[in-house]
Amino acid sequence: MPNTLITRKRRKPSPPPARGRAVHLAPSILSADFKDLRSALVSCRQADCRWIHLDVMDGHFVGNVSFGPGVIESIRSVGKDFFFDVHLMVTDPRMYIKPLVQAGAQCVTFHIEAAREDTSNLLRHIRRQGLQAGLSLRPRTPVAEIIPHFEHADLVLVMTVEPGFGGQKLIPATLNKVRELVHLREKFGLSFMIQVDGGINPDTAPLAVAAGSDVLVAGSSVFRGGKVKENVKHLRRSIAQIR
Ligand code: DX5
Ligand code: ZN
Repeated sequence: MPNTLITRKRRKPSPPPARGRAVHLAPSILSADFKDLRSALVSCRQADCRWIHLDVMDGHFVGNVSFGPGVIESIRSVGKDFFFDVHLMVTDPRMYIKPLVQAGAQCVTFHIEAAREDTSNLLRHIRRQGLQAGLSLRPRTPVAEIIPHFEHADLVLVMTVEPGFGGQKLIPATLNKVRELVHLREKFGLSFMIQVDGGINPDTAPLAVAAGSDVLVAGSSVFRGGKVKENVKHLRRSIAQIR
């Protein structure tokens, strides 16, 4: 049966900013002050960050609970100029897709380790809702596991820490997966974006960019001390050094 709500809400996702070697910094609001998310988003805008990373955790797939589609919908009111990239760390990703369409998400990424059904099928389902579809893998999951699903993914998220918590240290070996993805993307003539998430700071950001990442998610290093503009400047400066 067609879902009329979804039909009505369907929208074209904002085109992701150009790939090429333009590297995008995506603040993760997991590290923002939850009692004032509006100000957190306004600070991101002032720092010229429009790509916002939203971590949804269910307390099952990871040992932490964050927020869900309701909170995302309420912060969407801060502006339509943001690109909302939702990272699902949940055991049943499918049940979140339609509420996330309604909440104003533009990209939804789920973990291959969580998919209870055919992964390609779920990626196609996300695209059919008018969203971009992302596939993520934990630090110990090999890239080989996601190769069969590449053609249905707009984004591949390489977890550079164990998912669940901000403020951890990047696991250097995970950047080998970024290099492997760059190679495979080229080999298969595909165009998915490569995103890294976890432990990105001015020391590690240049390493992630050198490995070939297109999108850097950063939580604590963006929101530390509430000085978003200053922190973003440091991160961007660290990346600029190597480009
Ligand atoms: C962790 C989340 C991350 C987190 C990153 O599981 O997926 O998005 O916010 O936080 P930092 O940048 O502090 O490692
Ligand atoms: Zn995340």
